[in-house]
Amino acid sequence: MSYFPQHASRDLDELATLATHSTARDEVADGVTIERRGLLWLSAAAIAACVGSAPRLAAQSRQELAPPTDGKLGHAELLAELLPQARQLIASGGQDEETYLLAVAAALLRLREPNAPVGDAMSDFRKQHQREGERFPLGFSAMRLKPGGGFAPHDHLDYNGVILGVEGEVRIRNFDFCGEVPALDSGKTFEIRETRDDLILPGRFSTLGQRRENVHELVAGESGALVLDLFTFFSPEAGSRFLDVAAKPRDAVRRIYEATWRTGRR
Ligand SMILES: [Fe+2]
Repeated sequence: MSYFPQHASRDLDELATLATHSTARDEVADGVTIERRGLLWLSAAAIAACVGSAPRLAAQSRQELAPPTDGKLGHAELLAELLPQARQLIASGGQDEETYLLAVAAALLRLREPNAPVGDAMSDFRKQHQREGERFPLGFSAMRLKPGGGFAPHDHLDYNGVILGVEGEVRIRNFDFCGEVPALDSGKTFEIRETRDDLILPGRFSTLGQRRENVHELVAGESGALVLDLFTFFSPEAGSRFLDVAAKPRDAVRRIYEATWRTGRR
């Protein structure tokens, strides 16, 4: 589709890692920006601190010493909760991946302020917890999609992911590979099967596994969208490859489409 540029075929892992290296928002595809630092963003707690009286500030300070009791999570708390589960999943070779993905979705739904900036929390957390030589298992980012913006169909080699809608709406279609997947440089046509066509609104989520529904396409609605992405990487080689997919299915009943790899991996 016209709003997907050729340069969109970059490793989508970068979308997560890019968010940690700049103070600005960055366009990663036509109509899609990673939200990095929220220079002007203040949390509800910060606003309350600014306008509150001294006694209230003192009370808030006392509250901050106690662990939160509302079941909600800050961004760093979410990452701390998920990291040991991610490492266990990777060590097991992906055993109980669906349970893990639901745990990720549940954690995202517990975020206290889901529209808060993600970049700083992700960067700081990784600095604290990344092991030497490790491909950090988690990638967490916020993406702002302009109206009609999104990503052409792409896979998620050696990684899985959960997307949570925060603002606006985005249509996400998922596909399974049918049979063997040819090499990138083979030029061969292969088949993929559409398994989902979801409308992701605020509070709704979309998941994909290492194999289950590993290909998806995103298109934002007429008001655009803000979504949170949480990826879990199984290997240093984890990354995405973009596909060209036929406009019409070869098998309309089973929703099977013919596809080819776009040239190159990035
Ligand atoms: Fe993706």
